[in-house]
Order: sequence, then C-alpha cells, then structure tokens
Amino acid sequence: MDLGIRGRTAIVCGASKGLGLGSAQALASEGVNVLMVARTEETLQEAAAQVQASFADVTITHCAADLSSVEGRDAVFAACTNPDILVANAGGPPVKDFRQLTEQDWVSALNSNLYGMTDLINRAVTGMCERGFGRVVTITSASVKMPMVGLDLSNAMRSGLVSYCKGISAGLAQHNVTINSLLPGLHATERLDGIFVARSAMMGKTPSEVEEMSRNQIPAKRFGTAEEFGQFCAFLCSEHAGYMTGQTVLLDGGAYTGLA
Ligand SMILES: NC(=O)c1ccc[n+]([C@@H]2O[C@H](COP(=O)([O-])OP(=O)(O)OC[C@H]3O[C@@H](n4cnc5c(N)ncnc54)[C@H](OP(=O)(O)O)[C@@H]3O)[C@@H](O)[C@H]2O)c1
Repeated sequence: MDLGIRGRTAIVCGASKGLGLGSAQALASEGVNVLMVARTEETLQEAAAQVQASFADVTITHCAADLSSVEGRDAVFAACTNPDILVANAGGPPVKDFRQLTEQDWVSALNSNLYGMTDLINRAVTGMCERGFGRVVTITSASVKMPMVGLDLSNAMRSGLVSYCKGISAGLAQHNVTINSLLPGLHATERLDGIFVARSAMMGKTPSEVEEMSRNQIPAKRFGTAEEFGQFCAFLCSEHAGYMTGQTVLLDGGAYTGLA
C-alpha cells in the first residue's frame, strides 16, 4: 500500500536506536524526508547515514539535542521549522523502587516524558493546522493500560501524556491533524535490555532469567521488533489514517489481558 506521504517532512525523536530508529526507517521507506533527533552525536550520525544509504530518494538530516531541555527543543525546530509529521519520543525513566524516587527523578521524568513532549507537540501542531495536514504519534508505553511495578515514573508520565493528547485531539481534527499514541509492550531494544538488568536486581534473578520469564508471559512468545513497530507508526502517519485520532494503540503481542 502507498501510504500517500511521499515528499512529506518528519521529525522523529529518539531516532538513533530502537523504536525511534524503526520509525525513521519506515517513514524514509515511504518517501518521507526525516530529521532524526537524539542526544549523542556519534550514534545519531551513524544511524542517519545508515537510513540515508538505504533510501537514496529522501533527505535524511540529524540534530543532536536533549529533548528534555528548552534549548534542545529550540534546536530541533530551528533544524525543521514546518514538520508534517512528528514522532514524539525520548528515553524512558529509570526502573526504581517508588520509595527511592527523588524530586530530581520526578523533574527529569517530567521534562523528558511529559512536559518536553507536550512542548514539542504544541510547537508542531500550529503550522500543521495552517497547512491542513499533520500526523503526531507519541511513543509511550503499555504501562498506560497496565501500570508496571518499578516503572512508577513511566506509569505516571505516560498516562498524563496520553490524556493530554486525547484532550487536544478534538480541536485539531477539523484541520486534518491527528494525534495518536503507540503503547509498546516488550520490544527488543537497548531499553529492554536495561530493564532486564534493573529487574534482575529487584527480583534476585539473572537478566537472562528475567528475559526468559518475560518472553514466556507474552502470548506471541516473542518480543516485538523495532521494524514492525516502525511500520505501524508509519501507517498512523499516513494519508489513510486521517479519520483516527485521540487513540492509544497497544503493540504488545497480546500481553494485555483486558478488553479496553
Ligand atoms: N522497548 C520497549 O520494550 C519499550 C516498552 C515500553 C515503553 N518503551 C518506551 O518507548 C520509548 C523508546 O524506547 P526504545 O526501546 O526505543 O529506547 P532506546 O532503545 O533506549 O532508544 C532511545 C532513543 O531515544 C534517545 N533519547 C533518550 N533520551 C533522549 C533525550 N532526552 N533527548 C533526545 N533523545 C533521547 C536515545 O539516544 P541518546 O541516548 O543518544 O539520546 C535513543 O535514540 C522509551 O520512552 C521507552 O521507555 C519501550
């Protein structure tokens, strides 16, 4: 299927690795010019060069910036003033016993995963509305539907972001600007490896035991891939997804046991 977004421009955040990189690759494969964002210049540059080498007909640029800071977000919008597509994403907060969380942990999580994301969205949607096309996808977490032990900061920030997006989606829809959230379950990325290590200390098991146990709890009996996640993200950014907004979509191999 042609997604109808060839020639569009996207900002993809957290794009040097994992789910953001998968999303950047999938959008580039659909003919979208992509600005890739992450903090570490070296890994970001390598990832951008890799995507550019795979898809010669699009322009891939990169911007090394910390999305939790105003300066970082300024740099992103200076590099791409009029995005048609925004994939709002950053690294997740640390796994930590909730009793150990400090005020600084809360402020960092707020800036990275809630306030920082809302600021990116606000900067993008005004121009999208004026131009009559916009697709915003936030990458949050399955914890929005099923809060997870030890990921208390993530639980709090992600549900706040999803609620914010639902609230603003109604005012954007008439301009053909949609905003949806993808809720990853367990996907094989560096973030997941870090979670196994952190959980192993809390559970008194080895990281590979935690990995095995986690895989077995998923009905699909495997972790998701960044590639399949990216393909789904690209569909939400497509011309065809214009009548879907304010939604949260779980990609979790069937792990969530509830109905809604
Ligand atoms: N993988 C999973 O199973 C899973 C499950 C549930 C939720 N999630 C959430 O989904 C999101 C993406 O996960 P992932 O697995 O793709 O993570 P990942 O493999 O750790 O990649 C994170 C990406 O974000 C960048 N990044 C992190 N903090 C940033 C910041 N402040 N400013 C700019 N870029 C930043 C990283 O590069 P730099 O470090 O160089 O900045 C990297 O490119 C995270 O929020 C994660 O918590 C993932």
